[in-house]
Amino acid sequence: MAKLQFDNSTKLRKTIVKKEVKAFAPATVANVACGFDMMGFAIQHLGDEIIARFSETPGLHISKITGDDGRLPTAVDKNTAGMAVQALRYHLGISFGIELEIHKKMPLASGMGSSAASAVAAVVAINELMGNPLSREALLPFAMQGETVASGVAHADNIAPALLGGIVLIRSYNPLDIIPLPSPPDLQCALLHPKIAIRTNEARGLLPKNISLKDALTQVGNLGGLVAGLFSENYELIGRSLQDVIAEPRRAKLIPGFAKIKQAAIKAGALGCSISGSGPTIFALSTSANKSEKIGKAMQEACQQEGLDSNVYLTAVNQKGAYIVNQN
Ligand code: HSE
Repeated sequence: MAKLQFDNSTKLRKTIVKKEVKAFAPATVANVACGFDMMGFAIQHLGDEIIARFSETPGLHISKITGDDGRLPTAVDKNTAGMAVQALRYHLGISFGIELEIHKKMPLASGMGSSAASAVAAVVAINELMGNPLSREALLPFAMQGETVASGVAHADNIAPALLGGIVLIRSYNPLDIIPLPSPPDLQCALLHPKIAIRTNEARGLLPKNISLKDALTQVGNLGGLVAGLFSENYELIGRSLQDVIAEPRRAKLIPGFAKIKQAAIKAGALGCSISGSGPTIFALSTSANKSEKIGKAMQEACQQEGLDSNVYLTAVNQKGAYIVNQN
């Protein structure tokens, strides 16, 4: 344990700092069809672990990355976790050295919020290391800075659910207004991850700067319907609201066989199906674990018919969000 002096600009003067903290943040499904950049939910089983420790070397260093096949940069300003922690360091006036280890426990460039998982786990770990000066919600803008590395835009639809758990609506970015939404008890999700990589910034490049009034009305109607369906546990309403006229039609071509895979999911009983985040993962919601398993199999078969290997993940909505694994 070390006692440290802080910059006067923060309310912190002295605090007890832990030597090392390991935090986990889950993978997420962003957009949820009609909620482009506005909605996301956390999933189970997948995510990233970050170890943050006090270091004698001044500044921020990424000492180790595992599970990325050497694809991620250790340069702080090119790394999502690095950028998020850097923003938090400046805010808290941290002048001592910090070392980060990043352990990827989910596929990269998959559309399941890999960059957000790292950024969120990193800020949660640093906050714990510092004795939790900030609330979970207050960490959000710092974690969002990490997304600028991956997509050029500090979108929060992966970050907010990875941090807080559950299903989350970003009602507004300026000012930031995060609304936790209820998860109906039977809601299940099957995720198909075709083994191709799509970079978020490329997928965003396919989107228009402006959309028609007609498309805006369709999207707003569906997003309203989805929120109402979640509150009223009306699965039928959730299903018919899972339609995206903005991103899906423009991004579907990045995923071989997307239309057939979606058709297979619906035929197998899905309430609705769309691209998870910027893809290539495809998510399908349903009302039971049994149905979800069938839907996953049907999507995988359709994907295989395109000659593309894939992985299937079955999950309920993860209510826990990021958490501390251990500390000392
Ligand atoms: N809302 C973002 C996008 C999510 O669709 O570009 C990226 O994971």
